[in-house]
Amino acid sequence: MAGSDQTQKPFRLRSQRWFDDPEDPGMTALYVERYLNFGLTRGELQSGKPIIGIAQTGSDIAPCNRHHLDLAQRIREGVREAGGVALEFPIHPIQETGKRPTAALDRNLAYLSLVEVLHGYPLDGVVLTTGCDKTTPACLMGAATVNIPAIVLSGGPMLDGHYKGRLTGSGTIVWEARKRLAAGELDYEGFMELVASSATSIGHCNTMGTALSMNSLAEALGMSLPGCAAIPAPYRERGQMAYATGRRIVEMVRANLRPSDIMTREAFENAIVVASAIGASTNCPPHIIAIARHMGVELAIEDWDRIGHDIPLLVDCQPAGRFLGEAFHRAGGVPAVMRELLRAGRLHGGAMTVTGRTVAENLAHVGEPDREVIRPYGRPLKERAGFMVLAGNIFDNAVMKVSVIDEAFRRRFLSDPPDVFEGKVVVFEGPEDYHDRIEDPSLGIDERTVLVIRNCGPVGYPGSAEVVNMQPPAALIRAGVEALPTMGDGRQSGTSGSPSILNVTPEAAVGGGLALLRTGDPIRIDLRARRVDVLIPEAELEARRRAWRPPQLLNKTPWEEIFRGMVGQLGRGMCLEPATMYLNILETRGES
Ligand code: FES
Ligand code: MG
Repeated sequence: MAGSDQTQKPFRLRSQRWFDDPEDPGMTALYVERYLNFGLTRGELQSGKPIIGIAQTGSDIAPCNRHHLDLAQRIREGVREAGGVALEFPIHPIQETGKRPTAALDRNLAYLSLVEVLHGYPLDGVVLTTGCDKTTPACLMGAATVNIPAIVLSGGPMLDGHYKGRLTGSGTIVWEARKRLAAGELDYEGFMELVASSATSIGHCNTMGTALSMNSLAEALGMSLPGCAAIPAPYRERGQMAYATGRRIVEMVRANLRPSDIMTREAFENAIVVASAIGASTNCPPHIIAIARHMGVELAIEDWDRIGHDIPLLVDCQPAGRFLGEAFHRAGGVPAVMRELLRAGRLHGGAMTVTGRTVAENLAHVGEPDREVIRPYGRPLKERAGFMVLAGNIFDNAVMKVSVIDEAFRRRFLSDPPDVFEGKVVVFEGPEDYHDRIEDPSLGIDERTVLVIRNCGPVGYPGSAEVVNMQPPAALIRAGVEALPTMGDGRQSGTSGSPSILNVTPEAAVGGGLALLRTGDPIRIDLRARRVDVLIPEAELEARRRAWRPPQLLNKTPWEEIFRGMVGQLGRGMCLEPATMYLNILETRGES
């Protein structure tokens, strides 16, 4: 397999410039000696064995990824058996459910720290241990920037949750339980018990939330071994996959197979198509765009609609469908979905993968999936299920997850055709304001209301909050209106089944048009035209724009200040903009 390096010079490992440089014995001795102090030998470090990093995302404060601490042993065994030496190192933890103000703030911090490690230490390749939502994009962004051979080992979902005879999916059950608590159907104990029933074992969220979506897309990109994403964390296959992944990265180093050989434009288009078919999280567009930008591949938010919208939903997983991770895995997982898409002519079969073979070659022997969970392309759960990308007179772009729009919502809120909704907005200044005022009857929230939330974007929050999927007031829920159209410059949880208009770019805090809205403004949402327009005269909007003052932003930590100063908008991946100038740094900065 041809990698990036087409030159004829004898293959010398990058790590040998630290550990085995005959022209600089002084520095070599310095580099080698300290790695001996826990039992490694000079023979191991100086005999041309690939040095493989294991980028460890698990820890006690990152429970979704914690079992990677154990899986690392199987990775090591694979690395060793294939003739490599493993060096495990920690990367900044990102626990979706534990980090304030939001884990999204830390994606770029983990990315930065990973770049420094991959660039600055004697590593020839790396195993990226991924799982919880932001760990997967952070790792792939780092591997893209440095462009050393890299492979993803997903941690896998928790076992399926059950409560009183029915499935309970992580995250998704929280949204339902909160509604039942608000409606008085559950007390606090019952509420906690219901929510906890979804967290059954080690592993990440078992719904098709951001974690399972992003790990599935890592596989669709060609960055993990086929079948890796969906194996539940406690299954024996997970340990076997760790071992195979460890073996494979050593071979990838020897073949000089790099992220730039794999994460091409075709691979990103494949990821978009797979995202539609699995009903992926609304967090995927910013994450995938960020990975592409760090890889130097042009990918626009509009590509998600153009390439992905008319792809049908094939996977019957919560929140868009019924099942959870175990059923998805047993049904065939990502390879089974990709087989359907390839046979329908929707994938680039020639895209290279970590196996050293193409997507089509990897899928050649994949059998028929369980049709209960993974539908045939011609008989999907939902037609045209990919994201819609909307624009309008108050923003450049926003994303809407179509796969979760159910018939009841469509009947209640959208004429069909032409899918137009007209109503009035009620504006909240952030999550605290929403919680303080949502039950206030004077707001006059009814079935024709669009709930708007602002100051929740990358700069405003900071990091962008998962808050756009706002619930209606309790009285409306009791009256049977379980959801209203919502819109905002934040995100929403991948486990939410809400058809919100989110990731509004640019955000209010940097002067985006959302900042100009006032409660009571009339608004029209026209899904067919992909438009959202405030029905007030341009002159009035202009007057409000002139009167607008940027909000006073309070940074609570040094990183918040650095982040706010450098971050871009969700529609462009929420990257640290200066970091996107550093492409393929080992080669372009004289380090290849
Ligand atoms: Fe970690 Fe969902 S909270 S994967
Ligand atoms: Mg989340």
